[in-house]
Amino acid sequence: MQKPIRFLAPILLMCVALSQCNVPSEENQSATKENSQQPSESISFDEYTYSNPAEAVIRHLALDVEVNFSSRIISGIASYEIENKTGASSIILDSKGLEIQKVTLGDGESTEFALVGYNQYMGRKLEITISESTTRINIYYSTRPEAIALQWLNPQQTEEKKNPYLFTQSEPCLARTWIPTQDSPGIRFTYSAKVQVPVGLMAVMSASNPQEKSADGIYNFEMKQPIPAYLMALAVGDFVFKSIGPRTGVYGESSVIDQAAHEFGELEEMLTAVEKLYGAYRWDRYDLIVLPPSFPFGGMENPRITFATPTIIAGDRSLVSVVAHELSHSWSGNLVTSATWNDFWINEGFTVYLERRIMEELYGKSYTEMLIVLGYQDLQSTIEYMGQDNEDTHLKLNLAGRDPDEALTDIAYEKGALFLQTIEEAVGREKWDEFLKGYFDRFAFQSMTSDRFVEYLNKELIGDDEELAARISVNEWVYGPGIPETQTNNVSERLMIVDKAVANWESGTSPSDLGTGEWTTHEWLHFLRHLSSPLSEDKLSSLDKEFGFTNSKNAEIVAAWFIHVISNNYRKSYGKLEEFLVRVGRRKFLSPLYKELAKTEENKKVAIEIYKKARKNYHAISYGTVDGILGWEQSRYLGID
Ligand code: BES
Ligand code: ZN
Repeated sequence: MQKPIRFLAPILLMCVALSQCNVPSEENQSATKENSQQPSESISFDEYTYSNPAEAVIRHLALDVEVNFSSRIISGIASYEIENKTGASSIILDSKGLEIQKVTLGDGESTEFALVGYNQYMGRKLEITISESTTRINIYYSTRPEAIALQWLNPQQTEEKKNPYLFTQSEPCLARTWIPTQDSPGIRFTYSAKVQVPVGLMAVMSASNPQEKSADGIYNFEMKQPIPAYLMALAVGDFVFKSIGPRTGVYGESSVIDQAAHEFGELEEMLTAVEKLYGAYRWDRYDLIVLPPSFPFGGMENPRITFATPTIIAGDRSLVSVVAHELSHSWSGNLVTSATWNDFWINEGFTVYLERRIMEELYGKSYTEMLIVLGYQDLQSTIEYMGQDNEDTHLKLNLAGRDPDEALTDIAYEKGALFLQTIEEAVGREKWDEFLKGYFDRFAFQSMTSDRFVEYLNKELIGDDEELAARISVNEWVYGPGIPETQTNNVSERLMIVDKAVANWESGTSPSDLGTGEWTTHEWLHFLRHLSSPLSEDKLSSLDKEFGFTNSKNAEIVAAWFIHVISNNYRKSYGKLEEFLVRVGRRKFLSPLYKELAKTEENKKVAIEIYKKARKNYHAISYGTVDGILGWEQSRYLGID
């Protein structure tokens, strides 16, 4: 039986080139300093930035750039207001593959700069000479066409097929490939931007956004709340806006906008549901942009505007938990932020927990139990795959010079959420919600380490109640492997009914008598995950005839079905499989499907033929992973510095 494993691929496939890792010295380790913006700003050592925020730090970015589709280059000026805390003679930024033309100081005079060193995950150190009194630096720069954060699409790769499209993906450390910046989740800044795009196209950013196209192709943005660089985002294309509620709306190409507005019709209710639980939404508007299908993730929580894959539009709102997830990041992640990528679960574990609380508010307990049990299955597969004692199954990670992409496994998401659910059960929902609300308030616009969270939890919630401490066993969760015994047990009655249907099917009941009439997407996913292989052509064909899996418009269902199609060589569906793999660039689907194809020589040949057509449609994040699966030339880091 094959279970899709979210994000697992990079763990095994990215080459770990420790020897090439030129991690900066630990001079910037754990410094605490008072400053004007944040009353008590604590800075944690982040091995993935060259910058030294304890000495000189960025506070505000004014970006003035032009987006050129024919050269696939963004160029212009990144002006930073900086704070030189210690009177340092230089400020250090991160840059990867950027061309830096010149740097001037506040008064316009040129200053010296150097691009120093190189590391494949970190790029190069941009060292700029400043004086004690410098408060502003202006960096004249341009990106390269291969910048990993940017995906440039030609018109054919969009829905309308008339205009080109560009979107960015900055998390985890890719912002530095399109803006010179101090690229650490622990460093926040506000920004404004002026972006020139071709007339006729619209531009949106993780900031205040237009709702109509401008006549001259110039757009102005403002983000008044301080955010880390990984939340810098830009999308440019021929899209339109449609309002959903007073504070919510959706952007998308005109042929998908109505479907999208219907699918996400409950956006405002979702927003109100989280506010009721965890306090006011602090980012003014919450919109969503439906990107072309090559977007490598389900969603990305860019502040004020979640970037989303069109594969969550199923027609029946059954995949909107992704939206609940990205919206939740407005509290967990964007408001209280993982200090380093080792603390990634502080973003994702909390967010999966919040996501499920929203889903429970909107769709009830039995629905949410299905999500939790399916998530638990993912967690078990991941741990089984990684090994019970693997240190990468700790919540607090130790990435130590590896590709930060490796942090992105189900552990942070599912073990993190299960930990929080376990605490909820131990202390009771009321007390736990009160704690969480207080946590988001207390640490709003600050970063959080695993250690600091444990300390706060022990102080504010557990206190000296030893019995409670034993019932949770915090340290085992955060600093230990696997799933601690204190875990809360989840069951889903609706999925237990599906288990019976699977058993009936296996003992010969015909598909039409399985009682599937009322099933939702999640019941179908459970069903498909639990069908045991091998399946004969007749069996597959009778299932497909009755339930129409191959032609399903639901990407989750069709992707789960294709696993059986591949493992059983069900050739009738290979045409649709190819269509799917060429169109969709979401790594969560690509990774298990290509892995399944790579299992036999014959299917691997099929995969390579498909990949020849599909690769150009994928974002670098996705083709980096698939290259590894198929042994394709490792191109991910080539051509960049
Ligand atoms: N922030 C993540 C996406 C991400 C993580 C991008 C790490 C780059 C590095 C986002 O919130 C996310 O988790 N997306 C999930 C959807 C979710 C419902 C689990 C996805 O894309 O599958
Ligand atoms: Zn997330």
